[in-house]
Amino acid sequence: MHVFVTGASGWIGSHTVDDLLAAGHTVSGLARSDASATALEAKGVAVVRGGLDDLDVLAGAAAAADGVLHLANKHDWSDPVGTNAAERAAVEALAGALVGTDRPLVVASGVAGLAQGRPSTEADANPFVGPDTMRGGSENRGFDFVDQGVRAIAARFSPTTHGTGDHGFIAEIVAAARRSGVSGYIGDGTNSWAAVHVTDAARVVRLGLEQAPAGTRVHAVAETAIPTRQIAEAIGAGLGLPVTSIDPADADAHFGFIARFFGMEMSATSEATRALLGWEPTGPGLLEDIAAGAYSEPRVA
Ligand SMILES: NC(=O)c1ccc[n+]([C@@H]2O[C@H](COP(=O)([O-])OP(=O)(O)OC[C@H]3O[C@@H](n4cnc5c(N)ncnc54)[C@H](OP(=O)(O)O)[C@@H]3O)[C@@H](O)[C@H]2O)c1
Repeated sequence: MHVFVTGASGWIGSHTVDDLLAAGHTVSGLARSDASATALEAKGVAVVRGGLDDLDVLAGAAAAADGVLHLANKHDWSDPVGTNAAERAAVEALAGALVGTDRPLVVASGVAGLAQGRPSTEADANPFVGPDTMRGGSENRGFDFVDQGVRAIAARFSPTTHGTGDHGFIAEIVAAARRSGVSGYIGDGTNSWAAVHVTDAARVVRLGLEQAPAGTRVHAVAETAIPTRQIAEAIGAGLGLPVTSIDPADADAHFGFIARFFGMEMSATSEATRALLGWEPTGPGLLEDIAAGAYSEPRVA
């Protein structure tokens, strides 16, 4: 099928585009800069020039596609309101263009805040509804269009979708360790994160696009619960730095914006996704990836 991908130049998006092309799909991708456009063209992706706020561009490209993957996000941690508003508006524009077509729209999401005291599952409805909630309530906003003939699917990513070249959350935690000279975890470090290698995540997205029924939540989760203390220990071992607990009161100063996520419980399972899609992760685990040097190079911004 012909797939329009927002965020095609991003971390998960670029791996997903590779997976889509390898599976025989054709791809058009949103690019907001010459650099992103050039990278996409080099792969044989048709470039759609524009940004997330160009809602007409998003709608036009979605209408011309057989399916849509929404993987772009402004990720402006200094402006969560603006980031969430753009996310919600983009989902509305993409879904609106697909009304009555039964075509798939995969919306990126996460596993934060879905369950209390246990790993989240695909059965856990997303509690974030409305523009003022996490991610602008975009997962549920996408599902609003199921009754209007859109095959909306949520792709919930582990908080670390890891691998060599990742500039996301683990890279941010590694950067804090380099900056401070210690590899920290918050409090007792018993809160856990789910994890998935980026190539496995890309395959979940593609399989979900191809197969998942309307209203499905798929979990890109390979490892259910890695204590954050173990993550800090792996980072410390890799960088040759001491590992220490950071008092929650000092976490913002030590880690920056990532403190709010590194202190959260974000464990999750993927049994239903594996059963539905026949997906089995094959990439390295997070601690293995860190030990193998996936985060050994200082991050390029
Ligand atoms: N990575 C994770 O572990 C993780 C975990 C949970 C959820 N997620 C979600 O999964 C999705 C993909 O994440 P990611 O890690 O691949 O993110 P990423 O590497 O930061 O990529 C973001 C993409 O969005 C594009 N973008 C940003 N601002 C834009 C704008 N104003 N207009 C148009 N495009 C814009 C970027 O374009 P440029 O390349 O031109 O900058 C890039 O292609 C996001 O929704 C993210 O929140 C990711």
